[in-house]
Amino acid sequence: MSSVRTQLVAGNWKMHGSLAVNQTLLQDVLAGLAGCKAAVAVCVPFPYLAQAQTVLAGTPVAWGAQTVSEYAQGAYTGEVAAAMLADFGCRYVLVGHSERRALYGESDAAVAAKFMAAQQAGLIPILCVGETLAEREAAITGEVVTRQLEAVIDAAGVQALARAVVAYEPVWAIGTGKTATPQQAQAVHALIRGRVAAADAAVAEKLQLLYGGSVKPGNAAELFAMPDIDGGLIGGAALVAADFLAICAAAS
Ligand code: PGA
Repeated sequence: MSSVRTQLVAGNWKMHGSLAVNQTLLQDVLAGLAGCKAAVAVCVPFPYLAQAQTVLAGTPVAWGAQTVSEYAQGAYTGEVAAAMLADFGCRYVLVGHSERRALYGESDAAVAAKFMAAQQAGLIPILCVGETLAEREAAITGEVVTRQLEAVIDAAGVQALARAVVAYEPVWAIGTGKTATPQQAQAVHALIRGRVAAADAAVAEKLQLLYGGSVKPGNAAELFAMPDIDGGLIGGAALVAADFLAICAAAS
């Protein structure tokens, strides 16, 4: 929580949903958001972008996708270009989510290329970084997160972070029910902001840093109260309107 940065709560639906389920979820979220001061977004599966656009256009809730191709167009069967996401009104796109890195082999270089492709199409990339349990136990959390961040800074330049969001998501906390303590999360957020500040203090001061990994209504407020935590990236709890709304309220 900071006076210079607004908070953002972004839902990551992962590979969940159906037209019928989404319709109810989005309508319930919209109905319960009155008075919410945080920015709110949902990152939905590609086929539901049109639905998100139809339901959410003109509302305070933004929408986005969960990954994007690093290429602008061409013979890349199955891929989706950033300009296509822009066509459906996306404001955000996740890049480098740990599931993409671990299950689909996305390298730091590929993530940086996706980050730049997103920005070229006018989207705001939400760059996900985070360490595995083994890396935390080996006390190399700082090294891992710095490497993931610097791959993007080296490729895109620190100024590019003025049009981006960074989400710290410790892999061991994603979908496991194990949340980083507010102190653990704050320590990594401070490290990230410090690394950006070393390159550009003004960019660092304005950079929205989200925490993700088993954020729930019961732990959101204490996480969001930390000085360098500017909201959350929410997985499981984003699929339940009441939970997502409670988390949004905690960010206000
Ligand atoms: P979770 O997922 O909230 O279910 O832990 C967060 C994420 O993977 O973005």
